[in-house]
Amino acid sequence: MERSKIRLLALVGARPNFMKMAPLLRELETRGRFETTLVHTGQHYDASMSGDFFRELGIPEPDVNLAVGSGSHAAQTAQVLVGVEELLIEKRPEAVLLVGDVNSTVAASLAAAKLLVPIAHVEAGLRSGDRTMPEEINRIVTDTLSTWCFTTEPAGDENLRREGIAEEKIHRVGNVMIDTLRANQARADELDTLERLSLESGRYALLTLHRPSNVDDPKTLAELFGALEEIHRELPVLFPVHPRTSAAIRDLLGGTPPALRLLEPQGYLDFLRLMSQAKFVLTDSGGIQEETTALGIPCLTLRENTERPITIEKGTNVLVGSRAEAVLRAARRILDGTAKAGQVPELWDGHAASRIADILERDLRPALTVRG
Ligand code: UD1
Repeated sequence: MERSKIRLLALVGARPNFMKMAPLLRELETRGRFETTLVHTGQHYDASMSGDFFRELGIPEPDVNLAVGSGSHAAQTAQVLVGVEELLIEKRPEAVLLVGDVNSTVAASLAAAKLLVPIAHVEAGLRSGDRTMPEEINRIVTDTLSTWCFTTEPAGDENLRREGIAEEKIHRVGNVMIDTLRANQARADELDTLERLSLESGRYALLTLHRPSNVDDPKTLAELFGALEEIHRELPVLFPVHPRTSAAIRDLLGGTPPALRLLEPQGYLDFLRLMSQAKFVLTDSGGIQEETTALGIPCLTLRENTERPITIEKGTNVLVGSRAEAVLRAARRILDGTAKAGQVPELWDGHAASRIADILERDLRPALTVRG
């Protein structure tokens, strides 16, 4: 018996997944040939970290919410693993669609691989070379188990080849996160975000900070805040605070917040507006390194390494680490008017989701006749 639609199970768990999955779901829906079950693991659950993004980005209500919440890496991963296994047995999809490198991604990949359900991994091949980062482990495991590795930049392809991933599994398609950025830029430009916050275009810096390597160690965190406060005395530093970082300020720094302009985590569109008008951005996020490169806004990355080298080779990104002196030196250069210019990488053109859907359709249509 031949069915007409390709069944997919698409999974999201944490904030950076939502903007990657949104254009994929839209593209799959438009084609009318896919039947997608959307699963939210609930790794991120606060409205400001999760539900608000669904509404803003037009992501449909998840069909299933596993509500795994917070926990140790093992607990979080294990709960997703059990929940996804049950769903895969019930739904029998032709493939699972995974994005990024969070704990939910790796857990779902393990569940799928054991049940022989092919995995499509979007944003494959990124490697920081730093196995102390939980995301690095998640990336390696997920890519190893994937049938389709959809990459964003040439280094991704090379990393996968070096790890012995077969050539036919590697597909350079561009960057779905930039699909979302391009699709929403005009909407963000209409917002009164700057007016509401009494900011002037080009006259503030924007900061995000949440990596365990920066925020879980009181000494590093205090040193970073010291440098950032110094910058703030010259140019307002806006700081939407991630829940992990709030907890660190409370538990590790005795509850005294840094003397910066603190905000709640921002929605996608407000944050896009804030990024696009900033003098520069300071961050330890992965996605923001890419978004600032796409926007042509200078970015100082508060890490020792990056899994996204193209943002440095081609884009506006500079790796500065977490030492006060280096952060201040790099900020000073920008304030003195010598910010690095950049170019937008190849295939970061707003059409990555369409390339991915083309490949999945080509490869999965034959499966319909066989599995029935
Ligand atoms: C996770 C991802 C990281 C991603 C980041 C973006 C992993 C290993 N890490 O890190 O790759 O860059 O999300 O945000 O998957 N919390 C809340 N409310 C929420 C979500 C989390 O209060 O909605 C708290 C939790 O109690 C937890 C802390 O924030 O203690 C960290 O959450 P967790 O999902 O463990 O990791 P992140 O640091 O957010």
